[in-house]
Amino acid sequence: MTEPTTTPDATPGATVTADVPLVRARGLVKRFPITRGVVLQRAIGHVHALAGVDFDIYAGKTLGVVGESGCGKSTAARIVARLLEPTEGTIEFEGRDITTLSRRQMVPLRRTVQVVFQDPYASLNPRQSVGQIIAAPLRVHGVEGDRRKKVQELMAQVGLNPEHFNRYPHEFSGGQRQRIGIARALALEPKLIICDEPVSALDVSIQAQVLNLLGDLQRERGLAYMFISHDLGVVRHVSHRISVMYLGSIVENADRDALYDNPRHPYTVALISAAPTGERGARTRRLLLAGDVPSPAAPPPGCTFHPRCPKARLVSGDPAEVPERCRTERPVLTDVGEGHQVACWYPIEKGDAEKMMEIQASEITLEGDPELGVAQTEGLTDAQPRPDDLVDGGTGL
Ligand SMILES: Nc1ncnc2c1ncn2[C@@H]1O[C@H](COP(=O)(O)OP(=O)(O)OP(=O)(O)O)[C@@H](O)[C@H]1O
Ligand code: SF4
Ligand SMILES: [Mg+2]
Repeated sequence: MTEPTTTPDATPGATVTADVPLVRARGLVKRFPITRGVVLQRAIGHVHALAGVDFDIYAGKTLGVVGESGCGKSTAARIVARLLEPTEGTIEFEGRDITTLSRRQMVPLRRTVQVVFQDPYASLNPRQSVGQIIAAPLRVHGVEGDRRKKVQELMAQVGLNPEHFNRYPHEFSGGQRQRIGIARALALEPKLIICDEPVSALDVSIQAQVLNLLGDLQRERGLAYMFISHDLGVVRHVSHRISVMYLGSIVENADRDALYDNPRHPYTVALISAAPTGERGARTRRLLLAGDVPSPAAPPPGCTFHPRCPKARLVSGDPAEVPERCRTERPVLTDVGEGHQVACWYPIEKGDAEKMMEIQASEITLEGDPELGVAQTEGLTDAQPRPDDLVDGGTGL
């Protein structure tokens, strides 16, 4: 078993400033037009990918962003990297508003924010050698000096053999390719690396090694990460602070331990209860959500989570009813103490999780399990270790 050295505590190289974040995002909205027509394309609606999102990323720290597919994680990341323009809202970098900077004005800033993508196969040009790939940002930004030496130093830092400088991506394994992507991201000595599902395409046994590497680099270089994943186990191990997203909004923002020990949004409770415990064959009580995620082209009014929310049903006292406030008024992120923020009219209180499980047990017949209210941990078999097994021996969530 590989024991990652990733800990979100010590970041000696970091120049952490307590109050000015490296990145401050406020009110980010992104609407993608839905068009009809071949020649004259008419907008017939919009996908509301981001519906007003605020977050801060601090130097030397990791902001984890977690949520189901389509909730807007990559859109937020691409806006921070300035690969995409927000429809509304602002991005500040080290206190400076960069939202309206021109391409030319952005050039020096582009060096300070780099991206590592999910797919280490698709994100590397198969016709370029590893040396060319890692040197590309140096070339583009006109960095002088011995590029080959610099690239070989980077290769050594990410655990690749510097003598493999002339090899091509297909000659490397998935984990090694992701190391190439990380070396390329490091080339310009950025302050922030956006990691968009960086280990999701890797075998579980390799995931921990790449997470270790990211943790070591953060400590050595004082790097900040925006770390996106749908895997709560992975996010837990790399993040200092976590934003939980649902349908284009952040519904909960908290320091890592506060989020896992005391989740206040019903969606976070459901996500945590659905995550594998890491113990093989373990059975856990799991809060199931009714229905599917609504379409971001037609988000529900009021709280967008209301059609699926178990807490709303607990508040109304009727499994078929949702309080009017949840149906009509959109909750905003509100501080519930010590920087823990939640967007919910009725945040989770002690004992709510059990009560919601009881309502669920009386309403829902769980598939494939004779014991009502107890679900087999999804996707966990003896043959398939989880990252949790690898990173902390399976303490679970
Ligand atoms: N260029 C685009 N044009 C139209 N719609 C888009 C575009 N990019 C993203 N979307 C839509 O915006 C919403 C958010 O997408 P996004 O890729 O940010 O989600 P995500 O949380 O990263 O999902 P995943 O976990 O699957 O990567 C989705 O409904 C997606 O279909
Ligand atoms: S505001 Fe209402 S519907 Fe939304 S999460 Fe809170 S309790 Fe549930
Ligand atoms: Mg994505």
